Amino acid sequence: MSFSRQELADTIRSIPDYPKPGIIFRDITTLLGNPRAFRRAVDELVNPYVGMNVRKIAGMEARGFILGGAVAHQLSAGFVPIRKKGKLPHETVSIAYSLEYGVDEMEIHRDAVLPGEKVILVDDLIATGGTAVGAVQLLRQIGAEVVSACFVIDLPDLGGRAKLEALGVEVRTLVE
Ligand code: PRP
Ligand code: ADE
Repeated sequence: MSFSRQELADTIRSIPDYPKPGIIFRDITTLLGNPRAFRRAVDELVNPYVGMNVRKIAGMEARGFILGGAVAHQLSAGFVPIRKKGKLPHETVSIAYSLEYGVDEMEIHRDAVLPGEKVILVDDLIATGGTAVGAVQLLRQIGAEVVSACFVIDLPDLGGRAKLEALGVEVRTLVE
């Protein structure tokens, strides 16, 4: 029998004061390590997009690679990695961004999509939305059309969903 949304949420571990005091870190390694939970999470992310002929999934390093890769495989789509600075070998576009517990810079290959190509963004979690907004900006800079973004976890008090929606991106999440 498959998991309910509550059972899925219960597989996520919460670690207080990581990586900084005051942050409650939502650790998905416990979800990923549970075969039924991992299957359920990927199926739920994939289902709304079945039959849409999605060409590419973009995922943010590092947790977005695990879920985005699985989603891309299930949709028979390609995968575009958005990496932390200095890791991609070809010509890149970069953006500085802030997230719940810091600042960073991420990059995408300039030739990762064709002009106007429809892309769906996948990550494990949206908090402030800084990472996801930066990813949408990178994808748009290289000519992609970002049609939707999906996450296993939404931290609604931090307002990320609203920021993405204000950019005209549909947002789908599984648990709060
Ligand atoms: C986490 C998470 C999201 C981002 C969300 O990644 O996987 O990408 O933070 O936060 P935000 O909505 O406030 O921007 P992190 O940068 O910790 O990288 P990791 O996946 O390498 O652990
Ligand atoms: N990324 C941003 N905020 C986070 C949190 N509270 N737990 C896990 N990843 C995060």
